[in-house]
Amino acid sequence: MKALLTLLLTSSLFAHEPVRARKAMVVAQEPIATDVGVDILKRGGNAYDAAVAVAFALAVTYPTAGNIGGGGFALIRTASGETNFIDFREKAPAGATRDMYLDKDGKPTRDSVSGWRAVGVPGTVRGLELMHKKYGKLKWADLVKPSVGLAKNGFELSYSVARGLKSAERQLGGFPESKRLYLNNGAFYDAGYRLRLPELARTLDRIAKRGPNEFYEGQTAKLLADGMAKNGGLVTLEDLKAYQAKERKPLMGKYHGHDIIASPPPSSGGIGMIQMMGVLDRLDYAKAGMGSAKLAHALAETMRRYYADRSQFLGDPDFVKVPVATLTSPAYVAQRAATITDRATPSSEIQHGPVPAEESTETTQISIVDKDGNALSLTYTLNGGYGSGVTAPGLGFLLNNEMDDFSVKPGSPNMYGAVGGQANAIAPGKRMLSSMTPTIVTKDGKLLLVIGAPGGTRIITGVMQAILNVIDFKLNIQDAIDAPRLHHQWQPDRLYLERGWSPDTAEILRKMGHTVETGAGGVSNVHGILVEDRWLQGAPDGRSNGKAAGY
Ligand code: DON
Repeated sequence: MKALLTLLLTSSLFAHEPVRARKAMVVAQEPIATDVGVDILKRGGNAYDAAVAVAFALAVTYPTAGNIGGGGFALIRTASGETNFIDFREKAPAGATRDMYLDKDGKPTRDSVSGWRAVGVPGTVRGLELMHKKYGKLKWADLVKPSVGLAKNGFELSYSVARGLKSAERQLGGFPESKRLYLNNGAFYDAGYRLRLPELARTLDRIAKRGPNEFYEGQTAKLLADGMAKNGGLVTLEDLKAYQAKERKPLMGKYHGHDIIASPPPSSGGIGMIQMMGVLDRLDYAKAGMGSAKLAHALAETMRRYYADRSQFLGDPDFVKVPVATLTSPAYVAQRAATITDRATPSSEIQHGPVPAEESTETTQISIVDKDGNALSLTYTLNGGYGSGVTAPGLGFLLNNEMDDFSVKPGSPNMYGAVGGQANAIAPGKRMLSSMTPTIVTKDGKLLLVIGAPGGTRIITGVMQAILNVIDFKLNIQDAIDAPRLHHQWQPDRLYLERGWSPDTAEILRKMGHTVETGAGGVSNVHGILVEDRWLQGAPDGRSNGKAAGY
């Protein structure tokens, strides 16, 4: 009876059916790219082939974040249970220095956010290459080809993409090549317009025919380095030649009988997810019920403590020692949980936890499961919408502004309001800390969830809440993703409640001592796949224009 009541209540609250398919599923943030992925799967490609094709397609059809000029992470779990994490995060160019974004008075400039100097060495093409070499089945050229066709023959702009381009006038308008290609020279494009990107088509065609080295050593690399040199950018031909994607070991956590396969540093997501789930378990947070102030309070207090740790300890593991084991250990989790009371603790009273000095030692998301059960969650980005705003002349693609994810000055907030310190300071060849957190969940050794999101620092809390909604509240994947979320990141000391939380709940939270902000934008765009016994459930975030499709 109770189960039936819960079912009725939850379905009347959200009641969004996911897309269901028997064999395989693709979820991406832009529908044309989703269709490219399904087509590759139907032609015999596996999840990793499809991911390469979708990533290249998004580089054409979703210019705000789809890219070859940025970077990201791919989390892999093959049908045989092998797991891997491919890190193709951008790196600081060799010419970068710690204080390169401070003016003579020591104040941060806007150079890390906009223009040529904001660009980190792109990793996307190397990352896709590594994944394809190790796990792909089809030929590289055949996976890049659909994107060449889209750029050459054009694709119809959806309302969502056309509106996005129009709203990026400030970011793109100052760069002639971006203005010409992406803003129609200032006249903008309407929904329904067929956008052709001939320079990008030629770039992609070279990458298809000559292979990934073309981007790092060939004509593309030369044109990119030339553009940089002429415009005060730092990325050189040597930086491009030296760039390598890296395989890392995924982090493994446990939560309520599930195994969480999570993203390791330089992602800050996996440590966060495992630590926060541990704290929430100790607080028995779910008992309070979905939508309650008590539950929101437990989430917020847990989040703010983790983000204090994040700011202190996390950075590129190739440059700093990240205390992964301590930050996710049961003892540390218990200590953190014990400091949570039924009142809000002001962030000013929270510091990172005690870690021994020596320890033994606008983004986009693609989720795919193929007919054999190979799974992939890939998040990649230009950082801010349309990245640095710069399109490399003659190449047609936008470049990232990922350098802003470094802590440009200790304690000074980046574009997501996140603060950081020494661990995430700029150094040549270093990777900037990320919140991107592709995640896979298994139960009893079987694939259950493939999930991830764009959304800056709100990615970690967004993905975690969707996972908790599946595990603790038994929602289908679409409802789990669409349910209103909240976010707290320690600094600034604000509890963000999405639309959908009741004003009464907000009021109770204020009385508990929280500084509550309502309607403050979405908490990330989560896209996921849930594996049921005989069906795959696919769900793009209802907040987005994404698409799930399968067969
Ligand atoms: O890596 C990061 O954490 C950020 N560069 C992600 C940016 C992002 O998600 C923007 N999308 N909304």
